[in-house]
Amino acid sequence: MKRQVAIIGAGPSGMLLGHLLRQAGVDCIVLERQSADYVLGRIRAGVLETVTTDLMRQLGLDGRMNAEGMIEGGFNLADGERRIRIDIEALTGRHVMVYGQTELTRDLMDAAPDRDLEVIYGADAVTLHDIDGEAPFVTYVKDRDTHRIEVDFIAGCDGFHGPSRKAIPGSAVREFEREYPFGWLGILADVPPCHSELIYSNGPRGFALASMRSPSRSRYYIQVPLTDRLEDWPESRLWDELALRFDPISERGVTRGAALEMSIAPLRSYVFETMRHGRLFLAGDAAHIVPPTGAKGLNLAASDIAYLSQALIAHYSKGDGSGLESYQDRALSRVWKAERFSWYLTKLMHRFPEDGTFEHRMQIAELDYVAASPAMQESIAENYVGLPL
Ligand code: APR
Ligand code: PHB
Repeated sequence: MKRQVAIIGAGPSGMLLGHLLRQAGVDCIVLERQSADYVLGRIRAGVLETVTTDLMRQLGLDGRMNAEGMIEGGFNLADGERRIRIDIEALTGRHVMVYGQTELTRDLMDAAPDRDLEVIYGADAVTLHDIDGEAPFVTYVKDRDTHRIEVDFIAGCDGFHGPSRKAIPGSAVREFEREYPFGWLGILADVPPCHSELIYSNGPRGFALASMRSPSRSRYYIQVPLTDRLEDWPESRLWDELALRFDPISERGVTRGAALEMSIAPLRSYVFETMRHGRLFLAGDAAHIVPPTGAKGLNLAASDIAYLSQALIAHYSKGDGSGLESYQDRALSRVWKAERFSWYLTKLMHRFPEDGTFEHRMQIAELDYVAASPAMQESIAENYVGLPL
């Protein structure tokens, strides 16, 4: 089989790229190791910047998002007792949209057959070949048959654990990493959110986030030691903890309900600067990870895809390769700024086990400064709502 572009991974990066390329008439195929249901079973963050909503609009796939997504004109930072509202609408003239990554991925998957976007689910042993040469190809196994696809370019959209990044030779690798000494324990439940806007709180009992998916579905997280297991957190214990942290600072207090999902995720900052090697281009979690504080992961994937889709389309429609040449630099410039903001917000809002009372006083002093300074609030707001492409 011959295609212009092979896209590895059917997460939001791969599906957005596939649709954008098909819309422009580029011949591409998406290879996904898992089933569609498995991909949609992963619960991820749900705050969309304009860069992400704009791509969905450009594709004409924004109908359900516009109907069901919640426009948020502000969010809150808190210290357990005091809530500081960051009025992003007033400070930036823009807003974010609460719409789960799972729903966005579902919209993209559902639209694929109509848009003639071929997605192979259950593609095993996906392997990249000759990415350095003029004639790269990808092989995979499906139903015990091995398939080979000859391509011009490969887009590695296969997340942090996929094979694309690993196909780049060690001599070309430039990577940077920071692990954090805690994880986030999350719970999703069909109960009304405690507050109409998100609250990130660094209170005496540690970090907690009150988020939502809809007016009737809540998403909460708390910081837990990396040694904690889900068995350590029966639902009742987690609800008790959330009530202690959010009842004093929220509009309605925490409503309890049966968990639809609970999970613990580690926090990491990671940048793999080699986002292009030969005819392989990396995008999204394949190239970088941010801690979830600030909800930048999906939005960074979307900005990579905006740059990469424009570059590939210019190459095929006008023979203009300049976008492919500048892809890595353009993407990294935005990636590092989002890495900085996620790291900053993570440091400001969490209790680090190695920190003493001085560092905690610094956090309080910084929150005092945020509360009193419109300039600081504007800086936080412009980063939260998303820096320009
Ligand atoms: N072969 C084919 N597909 C693979 C392989 C493989 N060997 N390994 C991984 N994949 C698939 C995964 O199953 C997954 O569906 O690649 C996809 C990668 O999707 P994500 O991990 O969601 O990454 P990405 O699409 O870049 O999305 C960006 O934003 O909110 C953040 O981390 C969050 O997932 C989110 C990310
Ligand atoms: C979420 O709703 O899952 C969420 C929201 C904001 C974040 C992280 C996660 O910063």
